[in-house]
Amino acid sequence: MELLELMRTRRSVRSYKDDAVSEEDITKILQAGMLSASGKAIRPWDFIVVEDKVVLQKMAGCRAGSVKMLKEAACAIVVVGNGDASDVWIEDCSAVMSNMHLMAHALGLGSCWVQGRLRKADDRRDTEEYVRDILGYPENYKLLAILTVGVPNEEKAAYELDKLPVEKIHREKF
Ligand SMILES: Cc1cc2nc3c(=O)[nH]c(=O)nc-3n(C[C@H](O)[C@H](O)[C@H](O)COP(=O)(O)O)c2cc1C
Repeated sequence: MELLELMRTRRSVRSYKDDAVSEEDITKILQAGMLSASGKAIRPWDFIVVEDKVVLQKMAGCRAGSVKMLKEAACAIVVVGNGDASDVWIEDCSAVMSNMHLMAHALGLGSCWVQGRLRKADDRRDTEEYVRDILGYPENYKLLAILTVGVPNEEKAAYELDKLPVEKIHREKF
């Protein structure tokens, strides 16, 4: 599919079937992440791939009200960034998330960004601390976000190019 068409049809998918996601597809999603642009090419990110259902259930409590997608997902890819390594780790990790989200769609999979920074868990701890307790990333690594991945169990409408908010585009001056 042409890239713009992929982008037009990409949506956040929050409901997944019980089916597994192949290791080959998980690898491709991770490759898309690792191919992302990175400030000074520092690539300050690490990935934690979680497929263990018991761990995914625990992780679902990482946000107040709990995250249904984490309970249903075949896989979660946790993106953590080393803030000591780069002052643009947030931007770098966000680029990774976007590329992985789009790659998942290109493979016919559904995925959704679960925000990690600046959010609270079910037990009122920071989401970052809650997930750190489960996955054990070191203190100098900060949680950016989690990408849930699974076989889609919902269909969402694609965007229309002629309905994009073009009024937000300014030329030469705001
Ligand atoms: C920075 C960021 C944080 C997000 N956090 C969450 C989240 O915590 N939970 C969630 O369900 N979706 C989250 N999303 C997905 C957005 O809700 C979604 O992209 C938006 O509603 C537009 O829908 P679409 O992705 O289908 O175009 C996040 C997306 C971004 C870029």
